[in-house]
Amino acid sequence: MSLSDSTMSWLLVLCVALSLSLARADSSYDYFRLPTALRPQKYDLRILTILENVEDLRFNGSVKIQIETLQNTKNITLHSKDLKIDESQITLRQIGGEGSPDNCITFTEVNPNHDFYILNTCQELFAGQVYELHLPFSAQLQEQLAGYYRSSYVDPVANETRWISITQFEPASARLAFPCFDEPGYKAPFVITLGYHKKFTGLSNMPVRETKPHESLADYVWTEFQESLPMSTYLVAYSINDFSYKSSALPSGTLFRTWARPNAIAQCDYAADFGPRVLQYYEQLFGIKFPLPKVDQIAVPDFSSGAMENWGLVTYTEGALLYSAEYSSQADKQELANTVAHELAHQWFGNLVTMKWWTDLWLNEGFATYVASLGLENVHPEWRSMQLESVSNMLAIFRKDSLESSHPISRPIEMVSQISESFDEISYEKGSSVIRMMHLFLGEQSFRTGLKSYLERYAYKNAEQENLWESLTEAAHKTGALPKDYAIKTIMDSWTLLTGYPVINVRRDYTAGTAELTQERYLLNTNISRAHRDECWWVPLSYTTQEERDFNNTAPKAWMECTRTGESIPKIIKDLPGPDQWVIFNNQLSSPYKVNYDAQNWRLLIETLNSDEYQTIHVVNRAQLIDDVSYFAWTGEQDYEVALKVISYLHRERELLPWKSAFDNLKIISGIFRQMGNFQSLKVYIKELITPIYEHLNGINDTESSIQSPDHILLRTLVANWACSYQVSDCESQALSYFRKWQSEVNPDENNPVPISFRSVVYCSSIKRGTDEDWEFLWTRYLKANVATEKETIMDSLACSTEVWQLQRYLEMTFDPKGEIRKQDSASVFQSIATNEIGFLLAKKYLMDNVVSISKFYHPQFEYVAELLPPLSDQIFTRKDYMEFKTFLSKSKEQLKDVEQATKQSLEIILTNVQWKERNYHKFTSAIQKLI
Ligand code: BES
Ligand code: ZN
Repeated sequence: MSLSDSTMSWLLVLCVALSLSLARADSSYDYFRLPTALRPQKYDLRILTILENVEDLRFNGSVKIQIETLQNTKNITLHSKDLKIDESQITLRQIGGEGSPDNCITFTEVNPNHDFYILNTCQELFAGQVYELHLPFSAQLQEQLAGYYRSSYVDPVANETRWISITQFEPASARLAFPCFDEPGYKAPFVITLGYHKKFTGLSNMPVRETKPHESLADYVWTEFQESLPMSTYLVAYSINDFSYKSSALPSGTLFRTWARPNAIAQCDYAADFGPRVLQYYEQLFGIKFPLPKVDQIAVPDFSSGAMENWGLVTYTEGALLYSAEYSSQADKQELANTVAHELAHQWFGNLVTMKWWTDLWLNEGFATYVASLGLENVHPEWRSMQLESVSNMLAIFRKDSLESSHPISRPIEMVSQISESFDEISYEKGSSVIRMMHLFLGEQSFRTGLKSYLERYAYKNAEQENLWESLTEAAHKTGALPKDYAIKTIMDSWTLLTGYPVINVRRDYTAGTAELTQERYLLNTNISRAHRDECWWVPLSYTTQEERDFNNTAPKAWMECTRTGESIPKIIKDLPGPDQWVIFNNQLSSPYKVNYDAQNWRLLIETLNSDEYQTIHVVNRAQLIDDVSYFAWTGEQDYEVALKVISYLHRERELLPWKSAFDNLKIISGIFRQMGNFQSLKVYIKELITPIYEHLNGINDTESSIQSPDHILLRTLVANWACSYQVSDCESQALSYFRKWQSEVNPDENNPVPISFRSVVYCSSIKRGTDEDWEFLWTRYLKANVATEKETIMDSLACSTEVWQLQRYLEMTFDPKGEIRKQDSASVFQSIATNEIGFLLAKKYLMDNVVSISKFYHPQFEYVAELLPPLSDQIFTRKDYMEFKTFLSKSKEQLKDVEQATKQSLEIILTNVQWKERNYHKFTSAIQKLI
């Protein structure tokens, strides 16, 4: 059927109207993107910050924007939100050209839906001309953790609160701090000048050019910073503070400083050492020098996320930058290094080359996540971070992306709220995993060459995924890493444009020595019909056999291909061994897909796993087998008997990754099963499963001094947490005795005898079994702690109480705007309470009863609310409670309108829990009972 003429002409009218409305804007323009008639060429930003009076923390400033006209227009539309603008002071003049005549503004309008500030001009602005707009503005320093905002800490010597100012602009909050073209595609150089009292320090993206006294305010100075390179508004940063810093020396000459409140300066050493090392590695990895003369990294007491990659002024929450050998654990240290490595990777992927629009956020976050693992692997090979990261990422994706309500990596953005929602596992972990997949199927040389040419081509510009595909394809064809008839785009579009991931079904013909492979989407919701799973991915197939056991070869031996119309072509693999040998696909989990085998192959795998030969299967693939079979049992493609036979091999396992995989899956099941009558059998099963490893690791006895690999330390912490929850051996009594020892210290804030890696389990067990006094003791330690990671550990542990009133009080404290828990930590405390079996119902009720005030508490950063839903939905499993939750969600539409994705996902999770209960409760129970 072809389109009729009249339809065609309507379409034409629509297109013209749309492109016209893109070019011009006035009050009738109601599209969420800026009109495209103008582009900023340069910003000159001056901001005076007044931190004298707690009751009146504020800033005022002015911005001069050089604007190039691309199409004639009669207005200037830019972003501005919650700023006071004195219209009488606005000026507009043409620059260059003859006589440079003044223009002016007739009237201004606002469009609050899209944060537009619209200046209608006296005369039309002509294409090709450049204008200079000068706008003065002022506002209070925000109390929320976005825009230009305040943060504070207590100076312990004077016992006084100190105030500082800091920015957080990504994704769309520069508009809260100054009027601007607040979209990532509008890159321009910035000249920033900060005014402040001379007792403070002013920091921004670039080094200081000069400081001079303020023209009228006594004791105030103006500090002008060097002009920046062209950059997006979300990367602009500045701060006025009274912090101290540690310098580190980098041979290449980049000045590198790490900043913190004075009392925490001793905790800067590790980041000051690690940061420059990883920066230097990136220079060598990408073959592109870090383009700025300096990097400052600063630990901010109140901070909305973990860290932010502002170009040259990277901001962190304290727990993500500060390290203390006496208080921070091995896991804290690795996370810290990972965060620093991630933000510094952004200096290239994100800052130098920026995504064109938020649709391609994964080009920022996926790359920063992947490159950070390369960085960690290089600086700290002993951590084996690449393996740990790849497995953790896969485990996260397999869960999130098994929901119908998930979304593609590259995702259309139609509302500002969807931008915030995109900072999720799909952009980060799935993004990183498909980049790793490319790295593994392209090989080192093509991958590096392709990336280098991508970075060089789009430096100081914007890119979309097509541009990346192009550079990589060119490199891959040059080196021969990819056949000429394969294009990266064809392969990768299936991974970035489709939602979900495939399960590959392997059906072997044992006499012919072949296997037939088919694919379909893996979905947790078993009610969804086959037709909805019928997608096609280009899947690189690496595999090995029992005889060959070559898991190190991650290059594809074959590909699952798709037809032009996107149908999957079954693949026949030949030359496979006989009926007494297993095959395993997806060596070292090189790509995000699951693999299901026929019964015979599973039998062979189970045999090897449950023998002394289990290590002949690569540790990553052992983790894979556990995760895959657990999912297949959940959705009914495998019996729980088979799944439990795989899992039972763990009594031999001594490595971290398979255990991590098993615990992740056991946690999901136990979250619902522990509310059911047959839980006792699972309890016994888990206890039996972990006793051997607990004993092998010498329980929670303090043997930290003996030489242990970092992996080993992480495994001990993980096992101890489970062992104490399931009352294995002496775990709880040991934990309590450590706690008592701590309590008997004369100065418990100075001396803590609890081994660092067991602090969370010791605190939690002691609070669970403890008295009111124990809770108060730990709370006092929280108030006095000077190390953020220690505060975090304590905050989580306080939620382990089994006293309803204590948990209720703790919930109330968490959402008290004037309380001792910072807003940034509230969601994590809520999660800890909600995952506690006693706390779950309380937390659910608390959210349902208080959703209005909680939403006000987070205003306008509603995305926090999204974090409150998963710990609840994970534990709901009856139809009745599903209906109750659904009614709650729809009644709270107004409060939840910015977290639509999270509400959909939580409902779907509940639905799949209900299905599990109805289909598997009895099967699972009887499978477990056979084993105990
Ligand atoms: N660009 C993000 C910061 C961010 C997150 C801005 C969400 C706006 C919304 C930064 O690079 C980042 O990804 N930070 C992570 C830490 C990282 C180690 C994964 C974070 O804050 O969790
Ligand atoms: Zn990031």
